[in-house]
Amino acid sequence: MTTPKPDTRPARPYFSSGPCAKPPGWSPEKLATGCLGRSHRSRLGKARLQHCLDLMRELLRLPASHRIGIVPGSDTGAFELAMWTMLGARPVTCLAWESFGEGWVTDAVKQLRLEPNVLRADYGQLPDLAQVDWAHDVLFTWNGTTSGVRVPDGDWIAAARQGLSFADATSAVFAYDLPWDKIDVATFSWQKVLGGEGGHGVLILGPRAVERLENHTPAWPLPKIFRLMAKGALAEGVFKGETINTPSMLAVEDAIWALEWAVMEGGPNALLARTEANAAALDAIVAARDWLGHLAADPASRSKTSVCLTVAGADEAFIKKMTSLLELEDAAYDIASYRDAPPGLRIWCGATVDAEDIEALGPWLDWAYEEARSA
Ligand SMILES: Cc1ncc(COP(=O)(O)O)c(C=O)c1O
Repeated sequence: MTTPKPDTRPARPYFSSGPCAKPPGWSPEKLATGCLGRSHRSRLGKARLQHCLDLMRELLRLPASHRIGIVPGSDTGAFELAMWTMLGARPVTCLAWESFGEGWVTDAVKQLRLEPNVLRADYGQLPDLAQVDWAHDVLFTWNGTTSGVRVPDGDWIAAARQGLSFADATSAVFAYDLPWDKIDVATFSWQKVLGGEGGHGVLILGPRAVERLENHTPAWPLPKIFRLMAKGALAEGVFKGETINTPSMLAVEDAIWALEWAVMEGGPNALLARTEANAAALDAIVAARDWLGHLAADPASRSKTSVCLTVAGADEAFIKKMTSLLELEDAAYDIASYRDAPPGLRIWCGATVDAEDIEALGPWLDWAYEEARSA
């Protein structure tokens, strides 16, 4: 017996966890292109870069104490820049509960030859945050994109810490209200919650991170694209649109479009509300099906952006079958779990996705599940 196909498809079946869905209404013709073909150091180029920084500051509710700049290499580039320039001054703790956090452990151990204290947890769990020694520099992902587990809040970060907190916040920014007083370094890329392009990273530095940069000389060489210091002082220009090297102004314009969309939607609260509504719509789908579950055990630390689901009895081949059928039907793109994560589904619920599309996805998941079972 075959299951009938649902009548309605999601209007925008873009549920990938990165690059994520473009904002509703986006099209390439809508991007401002006046600065393309011009120097990024022209008055116009610098003004557009500054506009992008100003919009991000507004939408992140970033306090004046924190600097924000655009750097090369997407989120990876921004986070590695922070590691390479600031680590080595004091002991390091790395928290790892999924693939990307584990990647920063590899960097710390194998590349920087540090001997970090590593607090690990399996996919679906968080390590015991109470074990963190804040005399250390502490590296963690705010939202683990590949397991769907996030830190619940910033309460576990000591207010009077000696070490620096380094948050890889790429799938957390614009989706959660971040406590900036607890964050010394944060990084992200536009390709996640903004539905922007990869390629550039965003680096946020609190005052204690700047102090570290100014007083610590790393024991290893720094490539030019990691250099934030010039003539013994912080290169302040980086935080005013004077990028270290040439940025893609097309990617910058694309990010500006998404940020202006976010302002028109109602600003930071609207982004948070859209994410909440999407995650709630998906939660209702999961609750109504005994064959679907959440990989993240504890609702308090369950991601609202990269929501990872278990599928009863499914192995990798089963998930491949389900997700290929959904893609062929243009019902859902790119919803298989990450390659290193347990086989399952991962559905992006960030602000650029529409809740009606999540709702429309439910019957399609039923259809694909039954088709894969009967295959
Ligand atoms: C938590 C986390 N860190 C880092 C990355 C790498 O980001 P990028 O490809 O923008 O460098 C990702 C991408 O999915 C991620 O989810």
